Amino acid sequence: MSYDVIIIGSGPGGYVCAIKAAQLGLKVAVIEKRATYGGTCLNIGCIPSKALLHASEMFHQAGHGMDSLGVEVSAPTLNLTKMMAHKDATVKSNVDGVAFLFKKNKIDGIIGTGKIVSAGKVSVTNDKGEEQILETKNIVIATGSDVAGIPGVAVDIDETVIISSTGGLSLEKVPARMIVVGGGVIGLELGSVWSRLGAKVTVVEYLDTILGGMDGEVSKQAQRLLAKQGIEFQLGAKVTAVVKDGAGAKVTFEPVKGGEASTIDADVVLIATGRKPYTEGLGLSEAGVALDQRGRVETDGHFRTNVAGIYGIGDVIKGPMLAHKAEDEGVALAEILAGQAGHVNYDVIPAVVYTQPEVASVGKTEEELKAAGIAYKVGKFPFTANGRARAMQATDGFVKILADKETDRVLGGHIVGFGAGEMIHEITVLMEFGGSSEDLGRTCHAHPTMSEAVKEAALATFFKPIHM
Ligand code: NAI
Repeated sequence: MSYDVIIIGSGPGGYVCAIKAAQLGLKVAVIEKRATYGGTCLNIGCIPSKALLHASEMFHQAGHGMDSLGVEVSAPTLNLTKMMAHKDATVKSNVDGVAFLFKKNKIDGIIGTGKIVSAGKVSVTNDKGEEQILETKNIVIATGSDVAGIPGVAVDIDETVIISSTGGLSLEKVPARMIVVGGGVIGLELGSVWSRLGAKVTVVEYLDTILGGMDGEVSKQAQRLLAKQGIEFQLGAKVTAVVKDGAGAKVTFEPVKGGEASTIDADVVLIATGRKPYTEGLGLSEAGVALDQRGRVETDGHFRTNVAGIYGIGDVIKGPMLAHKAEDEGVALAEILAGQAGHVNYDVIPAVVYTQPEVASVGKTEEELKAAGIAYKVGKFPFTANGRARAMQATDGFVKILADKETDRVLGGHIVGFGAGEMIHEITVLMEFGGSSEDLGRTCHAHPTMSEAVKEAALATFFKPIHM
């Protein structure tokens, strides 16, 4: 059997690339070593975490957030088994959906471990150890990423006491004390889940701020709001040891600026210190595929590796490790392989942290603009001044828009607030079209909506907001 494209890995990068390539008339196979398609995102990442984030937020609201609305409920009881069943059912319907889309688009989905033999040849080994060799014009490496662990610290992740995000999605009971190592996206999302369900969560983070890389004002506000929910933060703290101790574990950290080390105990420790590209066992060195200094598959602007006919997309190459970045690369590569012009605009990739409230961002932060010496103007609008937010008691947070001082072109948008992950897309579309804050401020927005705060922030950027 000979293919136009064989894709190794069926995560958002791989499966989307496969569907797009098939839609464009190419003969496609996808090799996946998990029993189900969808990769980390659908099986043990984005999708199950969102199921638990939603369910745990409902639990929290039932216990804390409804009295003042005149909805008096007695204290809710947690049925963690049912909550996990909801998560599992969500995952199943999503991974089944990918299998359906493969069939619909006549894509050959092959369960087994893929290995590149050479350009044009891929071997697949199934769980019985049987190997077959497939021929193809093009190979796409879409193998994603794996838990990186703590740089320079040996940690034995057993997924029950010392866990990665994978274990953090399947705990059998709510730990009384949870330590989260790393105040990035995974740490805050899963920390929120278990905090809402009753765990005392402490986040230990190396940097002086959580969500490093986000706009400074945004990460400060997010930290303040999460602290109000009971999450404790140890910032500027470098974790140097995580060891099991009886039924729990001990975490040792020292101030990054120097000073005495401290050790704290927990029932569960979540390691959320980043992910690394997954390249093991793929035959890359034998095939001569070059990696960069950070172990990522090196690619050019057209996703080509140094070996003709072998390409890379998603977490395994440079750029933010985000499912939607991988998807867009998958689409662009499929277009290139079909002889069209595929392109990803890396300047306009939104990022969302699904805490409550959500934190969302697109384009440049204020710190980045300052560092680049770009003259900019800022417009901000708080949700406290938004009617819909007041009606829903969702007044935490604000919208911040950054625009070029001369041209008024919007360069960045940042939102902390209920539904931020949805609202960020109007700034994203605006930026994709090179729009200005005046364009956004003069666009009619339905009243009453949270999105009016986006319009008001745009008005504040180019002149003055109305409702402040
Ligand atoms: P991350 O890179 O977002 O955060 C890791 C944090 O760990 C950093 O703030 C870092 O300073 C800290 N750290 C590293 N070593 C440390 C030490 N020794 N002591 C204390 N702190 C230390 O990584 P995370 O949260 O594990 O996420 C991995 C990837 O998955 C990211 O690229 C993220 O974007 C992606 N992801 C995205 C989601 C989303 O878009 N909603 C959800 C979950 C993951």
